Amino acid sequence: MLSIDSLRVTYGGAVEAVRGVTMEVPDGKVVAVLGSNGAGKSTLLRTVSGTLRLHRGRVDEGSVRFDGDVLTSRDPGQIVRQGVVQVPEGRRIFGRLTVEENLRAGGMGNRDRAAKAAAHARVHDLFPVLAERSGQRAGLLSGGEQQMLAIGRALMASPKLLLLDEPSLGLAPRIIGQIGEVIAEINRQGTSVLLVEQNATMALGVADLAYVLDVGKVSLSGPAAELARTDEVQRLYLGHGDAAETGPATRGPRRTLSRWTA
Ligand SMILES: Nc1ncnc2c1ncn2[C@@H]1O[C@H](COP(=O)(O)OP(=O)(O)OP(=O)(O)O)[C@@H](O)[C@H]1O
Ligand SMILES: [Mg+2]
Repeated sequence: MLSIDSLRVTYGGAVEAVRGVTMEVPDGKVVAVLGSNGAGKSTLLRTVSGTLRLHRGRVDEGSVRFDGDVLTSRDPGQIVRQGVVQVPEGRRIFGRLTVEENLRAGGMGNRDRAAKAAAHARVHDLFPVLAERSGQRAGLLSGGEQQMLAIGRALMASPKLLLLDEPSLGLAPRIIGQIGEVIAEINRQGTSVLLVEQNATMALGVADLAYVLDVGKVSLSGPAAELARTDEVQRLYLGHGDAAETGPATRGPRRTLSRWTA
């Protein structure tokens, strides 16, 4: 389980991006973090993955623990080896490398050959398009395929907990639905997920639990289905002016996997 306790994070000693956040990701669950631009969502994920320092950020207070181990004093490589792997905002795939080389890069720290082979098979099974385009330069993939590659690359490290930073960013609604289905399937296969999203329909459709971040603080939290019914989430994140007039909570992605082929 991931436990974030009373976390405060600043950038350059000035901007306080996370202001006392307490949050949990229980084993086997999908937890969504919603919030508008600048709410501190990426900062939260960077803190968990140990990449905060690369962005000149610092933990001022609080802690992040995974299965009891304190992550806040670990470097990113150690955190990956503990089973916590981030898919960064904006995908950050290696455009000049092939699809296969990108996947291999994701598995580099994974010294267990059998685990790596199993991870590779899992990625090809989840995303057949990555097998089909194996020798193609990653930069030539569509936006949705690049997001799949970014997720596949992270899965190559056999994560226990996958951190996703706005996987829906810039993608068409149909593709966002497929991303949601893939997240549900990855979770069904046993990987916990911390999903940062601005697309509340997708996130709440796939998540068990959810938190709303507002300028660095948790303003709401609870079971995803309950949060989807609150006025605040309806109004701010689901685009409904009046919660009382809306029908069934969310139309999230179906919890079945449709193969990723296009
Ligand atoms: N490297 C940085 N240096 C200084 N300030 C930063 C840095 N990264 C983020 N911030 C600031 O910290 C706050 C939180 O930013 P963060 O990127 O975590 O938000 P976010 O919720 O991920 O937003 P978005 O939805 O736009 O991705 C913002 O005020 C932002 O300007
Ligand atoms: Mg962000």
